[in-house]
Amino acid sequence: MIFRQLFDSESSTYTYLLASRRGGEALIVDPVLDKVDRYVQLLDELDLKLIKAVDTHLHADHITGLGALRNRTRCITVMGEQSGADVVSIRVSEGDTIDIEGLSLDVLYTPGHTDDSYSFLMEDRVFTGDTLLIRGTGRTDFQNGSPHAQYDSIFNKLLKLPEDTLVFPAHDYKGDMVSTIGEERAFNPRLQVNSKAEYVEIMENLKLANPKMMDVAVPANLKIGLKQDKLESMGLSLNSGDGHGGLDNPSLILVDLRDATERAKNGVIPGSVHAPYPDIDEHVNAGGMLHELARSSGRRIVFYCAYGERSAMAVESALDAGLTNICHLAGGMDAWKAAGGPTA
Ligand SMILES: [Fe+2]
Repeated sequence: MIFRQLFDSESSTYTYLLASRRGGEALIVDPVLDKVDRYVQLLDELDLKLIKAVDTHLHADHITGLGALRNRTRCITVMGEQSGADVVSIRVSEGDTIDIEGLSLDVLYTPGHTDDSYSFLMEDRVFTGDTLLIRGTGRTDFQNGSPHAQYDSIFNKLLKLPEDTLVFPAHDYKGDMVSTIGEERAFNPRLQVNSKAEYVEIMENLKLANPKMMDVAVPANLKIGLKQDKLESMGLSLNSGDGHGGLDNPSLILVDLRDATERAKNGVIPGSVHAPYPDIDEHVNAGGMLHELARSSGRRIVFYCAYGERSAMAVESALDAGLTNICHLAGGMDAWKAAGGPTA
């Protein structure tokens, strides 16, 4: 396995790059905008294809690299379902997994630092975001934080993991890089409490100044969605509101880009074919399944996904591959359902 812990000294953020092998698919957790050049270079050097960029929560102390990485690599952006970010490709919740080739992260909902805070468990290690830090815990005094929820997330979820589970947080200000669940239970000063009330008391009396980047970072991190209006102005966009009837037109082929779990969870548009987004280049290039289907049938391909991000990027990939009779469903399945479109 490839496992890299990368550091941004400006915000003391740890970013994690994961892959099961050289030359394979990669996933990145909590990337920082200022470091995107470095990540892209490292991906290149290790011959990795970035598939997913994940934030543990909406950060207040740095601008996320999610949007820039998506623009540079056409990767899938992932956050929790409570996230206020305008658009991400996939929104996950407790019990989901985040998968790439050879790796799977279990999604744990661990609110408290913010109401959109998640931890991700991968075999012997857990990425705890700002929920559990090394010898500390993330502040709970803004972004719908709650010391009550954080106590539950830490004591009833994270500390229930095996003692030797490695803890990799999103930040450290002292230079510590990794800990374990057992070590934090024993030595984290904030966890040496006898009750939830005692923990809440500690957290409510921290009296911390706001992060210096907060007024810049939060608004920026709320607006990371891919601009879909360019495709609309190019006539490469269909709207769910325009009538669902249009989509059963036999001159269209609906292509679902979501993965199998999303399809099982949220349903599919009847009559659509499945082509998971990570393989899109293979499918739209000459000789690929969608390339040949579009060419031989003369039908127009309509890509759709959860919110319209992957489908917009798929349109770009298809245009690059020389296909022109294509478009996407703006706003994806989310907009489709909101407009009352049928699902199967
Ligand atoms: Fe945070």
